[in-house]
Amino acid sequence: MGNHQLLSVTVVLAAVQLTSSYSFRNCIAEADSDGKTFNCMHRNAMHISDIVSDLPPSAINLTILRTPLTDLPNNSFSNLVDLQHLRIDNNSLTTIRQLAFQGLYQLKNLNMSLNKISALNPSLFKDLQNLTSLFLANNALERLPEDIFSSVLKLHTLILRQNFLSDFSGIAKSVAHLTNLTTLDLCFNNLTSLRHSNVSLPQSLTVLYVCHNNLLTLGCKPSFLSFINILDLSYNSQLPTKAFDQIDLSTINYLHLRSTNVTIVEFLNISNINPSHVDFSGTGLNNDSMLKELCILLKKRLKEKNLKNMNLGNNAIRQLTNNTLSYCPNITGALDLSRNNLKSAYCLEFLRRHVYIEDFKAEHNHLSSLIYCKKMFQFKKMENLSYRYNRILKVDSHAFYHTPNIRTLQLNINSIAFLHIHALKGLKKLETLRLDNNLLTDLFSVTFEDLVSLQILNIRNNRISVIFNRTFFNLTFLNTLDLGGNKITHFQRSGLDGLKSLSKLYLDGNQLKQIDPFLYRAFQDTLTVLDLQSNQICFITETHESPFMNLSRLTDLKLDRQRPNGLTVLPRTLLRGLYSLKSLYLTNNNIYHLAPDTFDDLTDLSFLTLDNCCVGVKKLEPGVFKNLRNLTRLAAENMGIQNFSKEVFGNLTQLRLLQLNRNAMQTLSVDALMSLPMLRYLDIRDNPVSCTCNNGPLQNYTKNNTDVQVVYLYNLSCQHNPKLKFYNFDTKVCRGDIGMYLFFSTSAAIFLFTIIPLFYVKLYWKMKYSYYVFRAWFSEQWSRFHEEEENCKYDAFISYNSSDEQWVMDQLLPNLEGGGSSFKLCLHHRDFELGRDIVDNIVSAVYSSRKTICVVSRNFLQSEWCSLEIQLASYRLFDEHRDVLLLVFLEPISERQLSSYHRMRKVMLKKTYLQWPGSDCTNPTQAQELFWNQLRRGIKTGTRLETEEYSATRESKEAEDFTDERSDENFYLQP
Ligand SMILES: *[C@@H]1O[C@H](CO)[C@@H](O)[C@H](O)[C@H]1NC(C)=O
Ligand SMILES: *[C@@H]1O[C@H](CO)[C@@H](O)[C@H](O)[C@H]1NC(C)=O
Ligand SMILES: *[C@@H]1O[C@H](CO)[C@@H](O)[C@H](O)[C@H]1NC(C)=O
Repeated sequence: MGNHQLLSVTVVLAAVQLTSSYSFRNCIAEADSDGKTFNCMHRNAMHISDIVSDLPPSAINLTILRTPLTDLPNNSFSNLVDLQHLRIDNNSLTTIRQLAFQGLYQLKNLNMSLNKISALNPSLFKDLQNLTSLFLANNALERLPEDIFSSVLKLHTLILRQNFLSDFSGIAKSVAHLTNLTTLDLCFNNLTSLRHSNVSLPQSLTVLYVCHNNLLTLGCKPSFLSFINILDLSYNSQLPTKAFDQIDLSTINYLHLRSTNVTIVEFLNISNINPSHVDFSGTGLNNDSMLKELCILLKKRLKEKNLKNMNLGNNAIRQLTNNTLSYCPNITGALDLSRNNLKSAYCLEFLRRHVYIEDFKAEHNHLSSLIYCKKMFQFKKMENLSYRYNRILKVDSHAFYHTPNIRTLQLNINSIAFLHIHALKGLKKLETLRLDNNLLTDLFSVTFEDLVSLQILNIRNNRISVIFNRTFFNLTFLNTLDLGGNKITHFQRSGLDGLKSLSKLYLDGNQLKQIDPFLYRAFQDTLTVLDLQSNQICFITETHESPFMNLSRLTDLKLDRQRPNGLTVLPRTLLRGLYSLKSLYLTNNNIYHLAPDTFDDLTDLSFLTLDNCCVGVKKLEPGVFKNLRNLTRLAAENMGIQNFSKEVFGNLTQLRLLQLNRNAMQTLSVDALMSLPMLRYLDIRDNPVSCTCNNGPLQNYTKNNTDVQVVYLYNLSCQHNPKLKFYNFDTKVCRGDIGMYLFFSTSAAIFLFTIIPLFYVKLYWKMKYSYYVFRAWFSEQWSRFHEEEENCKYDAFISYNSSDEQWVMDQLLPNLEGGGSSFKLCLHHRDFELGRDIVDNIVSAVYSSRKTICVVSRNFLQSEWCSLEIQLASYRLFDEHRDVLLLVFLEPISERQLSSYHRMRKVMLKKTYLQWPGSDCTNPTQAQELFWNQLRRGIKTGTRLETEEYSATRESKEAEDFTDERSDENFYLQP
């Protein structure tokens, strides 16, 4: 029975282990995607099946990036029928088999860009009836099969840029029936014309990019673009103006003609396009006369007299005289003069006639200063002004006085070193000011005085070292202040006063040495984000008063990467009072000790990163995370953690994501893992986990839980032998498998409980006797060497029960030892050696006597030792073929009473025995006399048996030893 059960249970256990492992060989399930989003990046997998075969069918988003895959075989994704978004871009694919995407009926987006695909099978997309976007950019396609899109009728975006396509007619044929196609990108191909015959582009197509080709002509019927809204024909350097002859461009909203051979004025003369929808950038309009000509033409063409937007970027314009643009219709929207060679903005004098202009951009020019504009014409409608990416060194006072109502001013990425204290005068409506990436060293209390509406002020990456008192005093609506990347060493006492609405304060990358709580008083009730990363803050004592005590709404605090050596000490009281904190960054700080109460107040914290925080921490103290009841993500990479225990991590009841890679753990307590009920994502890569028995439970945990993804478990190597993998190191020898262990111990117990009583009843004596018999045999073999049989010490060993001692002393002794017969008898109470083991005494008595006389009574039969004597004697009878046993029955004992003494019965069946006549028979004296004579004769007879008998007994012994013997025959021989 045992074997059977064992086998079936083993099979069941094996099946359980197969079904529920939760890790993916080459992918990571995005932590909070419910098993729907998978990223498989930078994996060295040669076959797609290595990547997708262990993903669950619930997968909806799959990204396979930067692998050496070259081939997509048929049915590559057959196990992922619910896939909706598939990115397999940036690999080395050359061959896609015909049925590679078979069964992906739900697929909506397919991105195969950045591969080396040179041909597509005509039925490749047959099953992709729900496909809406297809990206094939950056491949080596030369042509498209005509029917390639025959079943992807929902396609609306088709990106084919950067291939070697040269046949537009073929492309038109394959997309003609796609009635939902809106966007077609054919930039960077080898098209020479847009000619196509017998088919039309779908009417739904509104966005067509054909930039960077070799178009020489459009060459098609006039109406072929009459649905297009956005048309990019830029960088077709040979495309001539006459290509547009007759072509209907009335629906175009945006036409890009940069770097073509088109002459703008001629083009506008022959085309029906709305001129305000033409992007004039890069069209060679670089001098006054050309611009004047354009303006005059535009004015003539535009019926409503206003020009919404005008892009004159990239035209190498060096200068605009004051009246050049005055020939143009009124620009009411945006004028873009970016990427020209302008040296000055001239207070926008050249725009003087365009009083309604809202946006002006002159980015990427050569502006070197912004001059005083107080007395100049004011553009009251101007809202957005951008001078980014110039070389502005100096901004004079009142430089924006002519645009008093702007909301956004972008002066970033210049070389501004001199910002006049009155440069920003008058900008009372300004909401966003970008001054980042300049060379500013000082800000004065007057500088921002007028900016009473400012909400966002970015002064990142300048050279400011001190924030003077009242610098931001009037900025009561400022929401975001970015002072990162400066050289701030300190704030004057009222440096941040006035910032009553401040919510986000970035001070990262400065040279602050301490955190002054006093500074924050103006916005202590509004601040949500405080970034102090990369300063020079460090603490000396463990008990530093919390500077954040009053920041009751702070949600994000960054204290990571303090230079040059990190915080080193993290005062246990530093984080007191931060009851609203959601995210805390402490990475890269060389903290040497995390006190167990450090995080006690952070009851709302949901994200904590300690990556690299604490070189030397080694052991996290019990309870250090005890109050982080709302923590959902803990990043603790490379901290030197050695102990992952319940005492440390056990309280994180909301934790979903746990990153523990690059630590020093040889094991993780499964108990601790089990105490994290919400855990879904566990990263323990690069830990020296040992493949020893004490990690058997951990191996079992990683295999058998269905909730927690153990990131790249199959790559986790054994510490001492990197060739072995942790997930399948051999734990059989450990009996660490609790289920298995319990099963075996229970069944063994049951087995024993069932068997022992049986055993006890049936075999107890057998075992015991076998032992003694063995000993007897052994000592007999041994004694044979020096003792001849006839040299026995005694004539007979008398075996009897002490209750029969009376008879032995009164009857047996006088009749055998005394009188005529002088037998030498061995009696245990008289002749046994004192202090010797009773068994040894018996054995030596049996072997040093020629005969063994058993005085059988009911008491004798019940005595264990007496049975031993029979046993030994009968052993000599049966096994040595020496007839040493004489049985004397003191009282009549029925066959039934004897039945439990097999050996005895066997002896009786084999031999005659003597029955003591007792005193109740008819003639006791005579009968007793006969009895003694028979006994004396028995003692005198030799012990050697005949050979015949020997073989017979041997057979019978083998057949009957442990079974019930024949009981039909009765050889009782009454004397
Ligand atoms: C899948 O990807 C798409 C597009 O990238 C995204 O909009 C969507 O939210 C993602 N779905 C899930 C479940 O992550
Ligand atoms: C397309 O997707 C919808 C919604 O998921 C689904 O009901 C439909 O069956 C899909 N179409 C095909 C042809 O499978
Ligand atoms: C095209 O899109 C419209 C709505 O955007 C939809 O009603 C129609 O069914 C789509 N056509 C096809 C062929 O899928």
